Amino acid sequence: MTTQKIATLGLNGQTYEFPVITGTIGPEVIDIRSLYGKTNAFTFDPGFMSTASCRSSITYIDGDKGELLYRGYPIEQLAVNCDYLETCYLLKNGELPTKIEYEEFVGTVRQHTMVHEQLTRLYQGFRRDAHPMAILVGMVGSLSAYYQDSLDINNPEHRAVAAMRLIAKMPTIAAMAYKYTIGEPFMYPRNDLDYAGNFLHMMFATPCEKYEPNPVLSRALDRILILHADHEQNASTSTVRLSGSSGANPFACIAAGIACLWGPAHGGANEACLKMLDDIQKNGGVAKIGEFIEKVKDKNSNVKLMGFGHRVYKNYDPRAKLMRETCHEVLHELGLQNDPLFKLAMELERIALEDDYFVSRKLYPNVDFYSGIVQKAMGIPVSLFTGIFAMARTIGWIAQWNEMIGDTEQKIGRPRQLYTGAPRRDVRPMPLRT
Ligand code: SDX
Repeated sequence: MTTQKIATLGLNGQTYEFPVITGTIGPEVIDIRSLYGKTNAFTFDPGFMSTASCRSSITYIDGDKGELLYRGYPIEQLAVNCDYLETCYLLKNGELPTKIEYEEFVGTVRQHTMVHEQLTRLYQGFRRDAHPMAILVGMVGSLSAYYQDSLDINNPEHRAVAAMRLIAKMPTIAAMAYKYTIGEPFMYPRNDLDYAGNFLHMMFATPCEKYEPNPVLSRALDRILILHADHEQNASTSTVRLSGSSGANPFACIAAGIACLWGPAHGGANEACLKMLDDIQKNGGVAKIGEFIEKVKDKNSNVKLMGFGHRVYKNYDPRAKLMRETCHEVLHELGLQNDPLFKLAMELERIALEDDYFVSRKLYPNVDFYSGIVQKAMGIPVSLFTGIFAMARTIGWIAQWNEMIGDTEQKIGRPRQLYTGAPRRDVRPMPLRT
């Protein structure tokens, strides 16, 4: 019979005991849910550096080893042996699909790729120069106004339909956001194409020309989607969980996740990274890397090496390695082996990884360092990079949101604070205020 492991805390001359819970792999946790009731004190953990917000069986990250598992499968194996919809099935259901299960899943996705025709008019409300992420946040949030038959989060059927609608419609909505900003007509989905190929079709086809997506580019985009599909309790996933904990409908929760992902410290880093590489290139390219690195190391410059560093990975982000390989494949396919930005990025990585500022802080390339170069080479506009990240991460958000709703331990998320404001005081009538 295993004895319950205990952690003890001494505070104000008292000793308190808290149970320790062990997972399958990774750090154990100290269950402090009774701490406030016992001690009248809160824990203090801005940024949640030492806080596990939930139990989860979806994704595991070992930051020191640079390991990423989706439902136990290493990302390196999934990226090579599976496609994105297979990975969606795995993240959503917990197991890889059989051939029949896969075909059924793909068939269901294909039944939902179109959006409500009236939704196409909503795009007219945006300026043509709107950032695609602003459009995505608005469009996805508005889905609850069009699909009112899948809003009841306590109804498993509603949750299942909402999940398939989101997986299937995100590429359509993202491609429409791009078409709208360039003044081209929307392209309807083509259900004879695979998921990534259909997205490239909706992005780059026009009614006047025959368009067949390049299979190498489709496969590269499919791999980018796999690499971005889920990542444990990151900022946008935590946003989706927190929104879901209030009982908000699935479309509202995913829209909240998109909004959070937009930030340059998170999903917006790929767009920021490409802008950083472009600026270095314009200011002299490889010859100017040293000067740029010095600026990054100067705290007063407030300049970061975008695409580098990670809250969890204190080793190479396994996705960055796969992304660099994909970058190589795509540039080769397009005859861009000498792409100056790719060469610049590799030289910047080499120099940074030899510089003690980055080595001592365990700052390595993350998933965003190479993803922008691949997407730019594929003709995807920089402003849509994060939109594609959101498209890929939709399955992760859905899987985590579903897990939260099914978790009997979950309550509405409501953190407390350390109050540092004014003590109680009385209002003085305005004439008496000096
Ligand atoms: C994603 O959480 C996830 O899983 C996210 C993600 C996912 O799949 O969901 O992996 C996707 O968001 C990847 C990260 C993309 N963001 C960027 O590339 C932006 C640049 N990176 C940094 O902003 C930063 O590294 C973070 C935000 C990613 C992580 O920041 P932390 O964990 O809060 O670390 P920190 O800011 O406390 O940094 C520790 C030190 C600091 O220096 P000191 O105070 O010790 O002197 O490292 C420095 C930081 O200034 N530092 C950097 C740096 N990142 C951290 N210095 C220069 N360039 C950087 N990129």
